[in-house]
Amino acid sequence: MKVLVIGGGGREHAICWKLAQSRHMPEIFCAPGNAGTAMHGRNVPIAANDVAGLRAFAQQEAIDLTIVGPEDPLCLGIVDEFTAAGLRIFGPNKAAARIEGDKVWAKKLMREAGVPTAEARIFEPTAQELVQLRQAHRGDDFEMPESVETGYKMALRYVSTRDEGVVVKAAGLAKGKGVFVHDDPADALLTLEKLMVHRELGDAGTRIVVEEILIGREVSILALVDGSTIYVLESAADHKRLGEQDTGPNTGGMGAFSPSGLLTEKDLEIIEREVFVPIIDAMRRMEIEYRGVLYAGMMMTAGGPKVLEFNCRLGDPEAQPLLMRLKSDLVDVINAVIDGTLEDIKLEWDRRSSLCVVMASGGYPGAYEKGKEITGLDDAAAVENAVVFHAGTRRVGDRVETSGGRVLGVTALGGDLQKARTTAYEAVRKIAFDGAVLRGDIGMRVSGR
Ligand code: AMP
Ligand code: GLY
Repeated sequence: MKVLVIGGGGREHAICWKLAQSRHMPEIFCAPGNAGTAMHGRNVPIAANDVAGLRAFAQQEAIDLTIVGPEDPLCLGIVDEFTAAGLRIFGPNKAAARIEGDKVWAKKLMREAGVPTAEARIFEPTAQELVQLRQAHRGDDFEMPESVETGYKMALRYVSTRDEGVVVKAAGLAKGKGVFVHDDPADALLTLEKLMVHRELGDAGTRIVVEEILIGREVSILALVDGSTIYVLESAADHKRLGEQDTGPNTGGMGAFSPSGLLTEKDLEIIEREVFVPIIDAMRRMEIEYRGVLYAGMMMTAGGPKVLEFNCRLGDPEAQPLLMRLKSDLVDVINAVIDGTLEDIKLEWDRRSSLCVVMASGGYPGAYEKGKEITGLDDAAAVENAVVFHAGTRRVGDRVETSGGRVLGVTALGGDLQKARTTAYEAVRKIAFDGAVLRGDIGMRVSGR
């Protein structure tokens, strides 16, 4: 069988690595892929959000199964387009992916479903106001239209009345750069102006959610959903901040581990009952069928677990430790989700712990240089129980170079979290590239903010 994996990060390398072990022995394609995915199959130079290009390729190659890694193509409706063309694809359709692509919609859905989440206010201009705002931005001399000013002013007025910190969230997809946690609400005023007036994130930031800051430990709970059955996976946690002890700017994730070690069976049951079941039911009432991975970013607060956000896909880097622990055949698991037979399968997990350390380019998450030679990859791969997942890498002749912000996700299994840590860092120490940045404390926190 032929399988196409869409994306080119560490998550997609982990998916290809896992597919390569399948009893179905798939021929693997990855678009656009990286130097790591190329070790398991053929990279295809088509961007992950070029939906039409990907569809044409899948038809031409007679791809039997497509697996979508990142959120952008899902939110663009790649699943609808492939399905309409009679192609088999894994992931939620456009209507369901909105749970990640539109935070205003997701917040309203959580309220409707009674899912525990941060108290929030929503500020959104009407469709007509949005048109005016876009037009006003075409000229050099920007003048805020009267009507829009009212919406922005309402947000300003609300934030000005707060004496505690707030979180400002852009509604749309912003590559992880759309969430601003402000301990001082005065700082949030500037964020509102940047998003709503200057449109620094374009349309993604003109509708916003302002919510309370939740305090607690963060965990990532992912579930498979086949339209009706919900199968909660083993727990995971990632480290979003760039700096050790959770300091510095937010990133896509500097490391992850599984199990999270923070949750009891009972916590997981509560999350399934109070989060996954009601949210899927609420979507079904709207005739939206969810099929794929549903990821709940949770804060374990003193008042119980609360949802920070939903994602419509596997987490990156959470996928790396999770897939290393998954013993079941990934093709069988994905087929069960697509065919609605999740109820009939039981996932097998390695009882050991797994931990992933991300090595990033100097400057990430801001500007960084590319094209630095990476050495020591073979030595690292030779470390027992370690796998080096590539993210922003490319092969140039016989060398492997950096080509992205997050470059590698060095992942290891161990009898416990500590052992997995030791092995992952042992492999990390074999690898070098100019300007490499990594955290030395992955798996060590986990602080309460
Ligand atoms: P999100 O993309 O919504 O998960 O936000 C990115 C990160 O911002 C989360 O992983 C949290 O670390 C942080 N965050 C989001 N919402 C809140 C909140 N209400 N309180 C505290 N931190 C938050
Ligand atoms: N690691 C966080 C995410 O995938 O969104």
